[in-house]
Amino acid sequence: MLEALWTKRALLVSGKGGVGKSTLAATLARAAVRAGHTVLLAEVTPSLEGPSVLGPLVGARGAGTEVTPVEPGLSFLRISASAGHRRFLEDVLPLRLMADAALRSRALRRFLEAGPSLRELGLMYQMLDLVRKTGPNGRFLYPLCVMDLPATGHALAMASLPRAILSLLPGGPIGRAVREGLELLQDPVRTAVLLATLPEPLPVSEALQLASEVRRLGLPLAAALLNRMPENPFPTPASRAALNTLLAAHGPHEGSRALYRLEVAETSRARLEQGVAAPLLSLPDLLASGPALVDQLASALLPLNARLSQKEAP
Ligand SMILES: Nc1ncnc2c1ncn2[C@@H]1O[C@H](COP(=O)(O)OP(=O)(O)OP(=O)(O)O)[C@@H](O)[C@H]1O
Ligand SMILES: [Mg+2]
Repeated sequence: MLEALWTKRALLVSGKGGVGKSTLAATLARAAVRAGHTVLLAEVTPSLEGPSVLGPLVGARGAGTEVTPVEPGLSFLRISASAGHRRFLEDVLPLRLMADAALRSRALRRFLEAGPSLRELGLMYQMLDLVRKTGPNGRFLYPLCVMDLPATGHALAMASLPRAILSLLPGGPIGRAVREGLELLQDPVRTAVLLATLPEPLPVSEALQLASEVRRLGLPLAAALLNRMPENPFPTPASRAALNTLLAAHGPHEGSRALYRLEVAETSRARLEQGVAAPLLSLPDLLASGPALVDQLASALLPLNARLSQKEAP
C-alpha cells in the first residue's frame, strides 16, 4: 500500500488538532526520501507569520516562503492561502500588474478572504501549481508533494468549493483552473488523503466523522494513520491471560494505568478498523521529539510498508 503512496503526486495529511499531522507529514516525507524519491514537503498555514513547526522537523532552515532545498531529494515550502490567491490571480488575469492591483483592492481581498472555502480555493490553486510545475527537461519539478494541512478551517473543504464556482463560472480561465484542481484532488491515482488520529475515544470519533466527510467530498482516502499507539508487552492471548491471573491474585498495582491505557488504545484501534474503509497504519508512541522522532517514526513506517507490499503480492 505504501509503495503505492510514493507513486502519487500529492499526499494530504489531515486530522484534528494535535494528533500528529505535522510529525506524520514529516515522517512520510523522510520515509519517501529514504526510499529514493524526490519530495516537496509543504506546510499549509493560515498565515506565514510566526515560525514554522514543520520545517525544523526535517532540518529546514529559513522562512520557507520560497521552495527551500533541505538535502538531496527533499525541499520544504510554507504555503498560505493568501499566497495562493496571488498565484491564482496572476494566472487568470492577463497581466501580473493587474494581479497586484487586484490584490490591492480591498473589496477583492475581502471577497477572497471572506469564506473559508474561498481561502481554500487559493490553497487548491497553489497546490495545483506545485504539482504541475516542470523543469527545463520537461520532468515534474516536484514529483511527490507531501502536504501538512491545518486542523482549523478544514482545508479539505477545498474540494467542496469548486462545484459551487463551476456552476457560476463553468468556462473561462477560472473555471478551467478550478476544474483541473478538483480533478487532481479527486484522482486516486495522483492524490492520497491520509487521516491522522490517536488511539483514544474522542479522536477516533472525530476521525470517523472526518473520514465520512472525505468520502462525501469524493477525495481518495488512502489510509488512516493511528499515531502514538502504546507498545503492547503482552501481545498474545496466552501472555495476557497469564497477566490477568496474576493481577486477579495481587490486586491494583503500578502498571494498572498503563494497562488501562493499552486497553483503551486497542478498543480505539478496533473501532477505527471497523469504521474506516481504508488500511490502518499504527505508529508507535515514542520518547523522542523533533527530527529524532521523525527519523524513528520513518524507520517504523518503512517496514510496515514492506509487510503490506508482501501481503498484496499474489
Ligand atoms: N508518535 C509520536 N510519539 C511521541 N510523540 C509524538 C508522536 N507524534 C507526535 N508526537 C508529539 O505530539 C505533539 C503534537 O504533534 P504535531 O505537532 O505533529 O501535531 P499536529 O496534529 O500537527 O498539531 P496541530 O494541529 O497543532 O498542527 C508534538 O509534541 C509531537 O512531538
Ligand atoms: Mg501541525
